Amino acid sequence: MDAIRFDMPLEEALTTQRAVRRLKPDPVDDALVLRLVELALKAPTGSNAQSWEWVVVKDRAVKAQLARRNRQAWSIYGWLGRRATRGDAKMQRLLDAVQWQAEHFEEVPVVVVACLRGVRPVFPPVAATSYYGSIFPSVQNLLLAARAAGLGAALITLPLWSTFSVRRILGLPWNVTPCAVIPLGWPVGKYGPTTRRPVGDVVSLDRYGNKPWKGRAAAGIA
Ligand SMILES: Cc1cc2nc3c(=O)[nH]c(=O)nc-3n(C[C@H](O)[C@H](O)[C@H](O)COP(=O)(O)O)c2cc1C
Repeated sequence: MDAIRFDMPLEEALTTQRAVRRLKPDPVDDALVLRLVELALKAPTGSNAQSWEWVVVKDRAVKAQLARRNRQAWSIYGWLGRRATRGDAKMQRLLDAVQWQAEHFEEVPVVVVACLRGVRPVFPPVAATSYYGSIFPSVQNLLLAARAAGLGAALITLPLWSTFSVRRILGLPWNVTPCAVIPLGWPVGKYGPTTRRPVGDVVSLDRYGNKPWKGRAAAGIA
């Protein structure tokens, strides 16, 4: 395999990374997948515990079982989502992409499942925060690295509606929790740009609700 390069400017990767669900069935080299996970592991974890476990799924039979779980959740979520967003063309397009992924899940070349050792603590609430906070930064690293490598990827959770079942499918012990699923492959279409709310709408100054930058982008602020 040619040397893997991740030299895309950070701002370009951040602004064009997005959920890419339509993927070609063409294979992705193991070395590239492992490098993505290696870069994911540069993320922070609570107490630097690094209690993650990663499962790279390439076996079609295993993918088919995850696909089944995904379709089960989609059959409800999709129906509700389509109804709730009738008349919203953008949301309908997003749901079309989710549906495409549900219908082609087995053909995706690689599905990465990010897991954590332990089960989600219930109390105190901050323990749950730092539990999930110890996996999602790494997942975002992986998504950005995939973007820089020209791969398509999306963070999805619909297949995890039954963690019991996913533990069984992947052979995970009871004390390893699947937290995120990332189908990976070469994209059918193009990346980004993404649409997001203006920064000034979501940032308060000093106290919640004080929004002096409302409606504005960072570039428009002196
Ligand atoms: C916690 C979480 C769970 C998600 N679960 C799913 C999912 O099950 N299926 C799916 O297609 N997308 C899923 N997404 C992807 C979101 O729909 C996507 O990030 C969002 O629509 C923004 O997409 P964009 O970056 O392309 O604009 C999930 C995202 C997050 C953060």
